[in-house]
Amino acid sequence: MRNLIDITDLSVEEIDQLIATAEDIIANPAKYSQACAGKQLATLFFEPSTRTRLSFESAMLSLGGSVLGFSEANSSSSAKGETVGDTVHAVSCYADIIAMRHPKEGAPYAAAQVAEVPIINAGDGGHNHPTQTLTDLLTIHREKGRLDNFTVGFCGDLKFGRTVHSLVSALSRYENIRFVLISPQELKLPRYVKEEALKSKGIPYTQTTDLESVLPQLDILYMTRVQRERFFNEEEYLRLKDSYVLTPEKLEKAKADLSILHPLPRVNEIDVAVDKDPRAAYWRQVKNGKMVRMALIMMLLGVEV
Ligand code: NCD
Repeated sequence: MRNLIDITDLSVEEIDQLIATAEDIIANPAKYSQACAGKQLATLFFEPSTRTRLSFESAMLSLGGSVLGFSEANSSSSAKGETVGDTVHAVSCYADIIAMRHPKEGAPYAAAQVAEVPIINAGDGGHNHPTQTLTDLLTIHREKGRLDNFTVGFCGDLKFGRTVHSLVSALSRYENIRFVLISPQELKLPRYVKEEALKSKGIPYTQTTDLESVLPQLDILYMTRVQRERFFNEEEYLRLKDSYVLTPEKLEKAKADLSILHPLPRVNEIDVAVDKDPRAAYWRQVKNGKMVRMALIMMLLGVEV
């Protein structure tokens, strides 16, 4: 049985296959409309979400399947003290596949040890978010036509931003990617991510606190929100939250074919005026999230059309 806990649970070939399937779903949605008929997806969200949970549910409904689940821990038996393992074990008696989000790093991995159906990590604390990475990769592929030979800037909260950790890990497996890591000193990419994904493979990267000076080099800019819920100290959050605000003026110096991604939700880090810029890919990215999750659900359930 397959799970998706970490993006490296998928080989590069499998990721390329998921992207190809997502492209085919976009081109021929009707072909897939009954692909998962009779199958049930459970979404167990112990942490807030809009896009991830609803895109999973919309994905399953568009495959002809059905959905069940909860969107806050308080409405599940975890409020009575049940362990994540027992909750997931129980749900795996009803559902054919489970997408779960949890504030504790490693919770989906623990769940996968007891579940009788595939587990998808829909975000675990400040650790990983592999299905956002599939969304990001599909978006880069659609915007740029390839997944190699880029300079990619990651800007914002690189410490707690789980989408960043998973995307750095995924892109480090493609050819000729250069990373520019833009963050306040306090929110730098964790050492373990740098060691595993970059240093051990000799992949070039630079670290800076200054977005504007590096913006002209970038082919892709991945903006992120400062992750308030992971801070121990509200004052520190307030001091760092507006470290970077992307505006149309700053973008004047960027490449004409830059692609701007953001996993969303945005707080203040991209001025809404940027939305009109054709280089802003983040609303297209939202749509891609559903499509690639359709492809993923089919793969993990072993469904072929
Ligand atoms: C991200 C997350 O949950 O990590 N959101 C998402 O899934 N699209 C990013 C964030 O919350 O900042």
